[in-house]
Amino acid sequence: MEYLIEFKEATYTYKSSFVDPVQALKQIDLRVKRGEFLAIIGPNGSGKSTLARHFNGLLTPTTGEVLIRGISTASSDPEQLKAIRRQVGMVFQNPDNQLISSIVEEDVAFGPENLGVPPKEIRRRVNHALAALNIFKYRRESISHLSEGQKQLVAIAGVLAMKPDCIVLDEPTALLDPFGRRQVLESLKKLNREEGIAVVFITHFMSEAVHFKRVAVMDQGEIKSDGPPDDIFTRTALLKAAGLDIPVSAQLAEELKGKGFPMAPGILHVEELVNSLCQLKSKI
Ligand SMILES: Nc1ncnc2c1ncn2[C@@H]1O[C@H](COP(=O)(O)OP(=O)(O)OP(=O)(O)O)[C@@H](O)[C@H]1O
Ligand SMILES: [Mg+2]
Repeated sequence: MEYLIEFKEATYTYKSSFVDPVQALKQIDLRVKRGEFLAIIGPNGSGKSTLARHFNGLLTPTTGEVLIRGISTASSDPEQLKAIRRQVGMVFQNPDNQLISSIVEEDVAFGPENLGVPPKEIRRRVNHALAALNIFKYRRESISHLSEGQKQLVAIAGVLAMKPDCIVLDEPTALLDPFGRRQVLESLKKLNREEGIAVVFITHFMSEAVHFKRVAVMDQGEIKSDGPPDDIFTRTALLKAAGLDIPVSAQLAEELKGKGFPMAPGILHVEELVNSLCQLKSKI
């Protein structure tokens, strides 16, 4: 089958005349299918942002290749590159750096306007994107009046209005309060479920990563493991080696198992821990 996104032995080295070269990505092989819901975790400096910037050609690999629907991000054809930027939307950590207009709906319209979409279709797309992110009521508001979480939803709406196949978000919740974080995550779940948009979500928060169907762990420029969250988060040795936190429920289940309690495998969420403990109790 054709993949939406394919990294083939991609490496990336930052070079500048002032400092020694830094190899930030080593032999990355990563494939993303249509409609996937993927989180990428990893410690500081492990190469997550460098990887993210390869998804739509903001950076191109030093060796190897990155293909978006079979087309190389290093293509010399400007039309192909435009298509790639439209298919893969990017959202960054700080919403203030990515919002352009001062009014919500004008900002969301900016992307499709730039693509030369006819005005009626722009209106339709903007309304749809605002409704999908639950911010339609703020359409005439000044962006400066919104919370950081709401601003991030506006940034995501702007990407959605471009009708992407995939949205890549580089720590979009890092600057948000818990409420804003939950809003962003729930909105992405909905876009993935209802519109089939692939989501690649980079995060430091294990509590967010457990909500994804697939989790990739980066360390020192490599993808060290990649699989469903109940596999990844119960491989506690691997997470510890990468200096990452283990979700509290998984940690507790492992400690109880270590003390001889027969805990269910793959415990990740609080509810699963509670169920397993209740079963234990009924056996005593
Ligand atoms: N512009 C740059 N020039 C030189 N080296 C860089 C540059 N940007 C990043 N690096 C280096 O590349 C490596 C990977 O950095 P990157 O920002 O991709 O990591 P990260 O996982 O996103 O980190 P963080 O969790 O802090 O966001 C690090 O060693 C970093 O110092
Ligand atoms: Mg980063």
